[in-house]
Amino acid sequence: MSALHQEFVPKPYTNFVESGSVAWKSPSNIALIKYWGKYGQQLPKNTSISFTLDHCATSTRLEFQSKQGKGFDITVLLDGKAQADFVPKIEKFFTIAMPYLPFLEDYSFTVHTSNSFPHSSGIASSASGMSALALCLLDLEAQLSGNGPSEEDFKKKASFLARLGSGSAARSIDGGLAVWGEHQEIAGSSDLFAIPYPEAVHEVFHDFCDTVLLVDTGEKVVSSTVGHGLMHGHPFAEQRFDQANTNMQTIKPILASGDLDAFIALVESEALSLHAMMLTSSPYFILMKPATLAIINRIWSFRKETGIPACFTLDAGANVHLLYPAQHKQQVQDLIENELKAHCKEGAYIHDQVGQGAVRL
Ligand code: DP6
Repeated sequence: MSALHQEFVPKPYTNFVESGSVAWKSPSNIALIKYWGKYGQQLPKNTSISFTLDHCATSTRLEFQSKQGKGFDITVLLDGKAQADFVPKIEKFFTIAMPYLPFLEDYSFTVHTSNSFPHSSGIASSASGMSALALCLLDLEAQLSGNGPSEEDFKKKASFLARLGSGSAARSIDGGLAVWGEHQEIAGSSDLFAIPYPEAVHEVFHDFCDTVLLVDTGEKVVSSTVGHGLMHGHPFAEQRFDQANTNMQTIKPILASGDLDAFIALVESEALSLHAMMLTSSPYFILMKPATLAIINRIWSFRKETGIPACFTLDAGANVHLLYPAQHKQQVQDLIENELKAHCKEGAYIHDQVGQGAVRL
């Protein structure tokens, strides 16, 4: 049994709420410094930092109806259609969230969820999905508690709960840049929840663009959860965690000054280091596809030819996130339409940019 974090255990509820519904829209995020490897109850082995996205988001409406008896009663609908295969993950989340949301057994829940991106796009919906659900549950808790928590405490607990559902979901509450994982040089950082990046950020990063190039839209050969597990006993694990923590230190002056050359070097190295961990796991696996490498090579030659500071990052899959400053939107988007699109599955890509964080609907 993991230690309870008393700070997030609620006081006895004062109100009875028979039924109702709450709704939130929560964004996806893309990590610049990657979380890969965890311990205990969804705690990260290193600090990570991400851009909160804008268009890639999940909207969730949670309906609740009080019930008698113990046990969870959860129905999930994706775009209006029953999605029984989502239920076990949510039940697992409810089980570990119970001490922090003791009302979970007292209601029948219907989760109506939809993604702004096609479900089959291969974009991870767990970050946006779990954060939207955590926010909905906290809205219900606020009704049960009478006078709810301050906005800051609400977001902190939302991030804490989202993390229990999926690690990267912790970083999908606030906008801009989010940091998760304790780091001695980031004030207020914690393994338990993410915080808005508290240091200076150059304006070039305020509206940074991310086009997600959809290379592979099928089921991943190895899930993130399994991949994290393979960091236990991994021959390079400790070096990797040190590298990420050092990169967190290195990125601070880069984010403050807007030094894009240094930003590119760090972000691309992080993406390739993440995939290097997969290549050297036991068993080893490869999530990149030939088109992933073709796109990366074209981004490099484009950068060399034009001097435009566009770079790539990857998450745990084959899709490429093409990152670039808003002022170069036209040229980069021409490159995508004229060339990179040809490498994407059915020519699909999604233009996105840094967003403002989750919103109540
Ligand atoms: C490569 O958050 O999907 O995207 O905690 O098991 O749900 P679980 O894993 P998940 O891992 C994401 C890993 C990553 C890097 C990152 O987002 O930092």
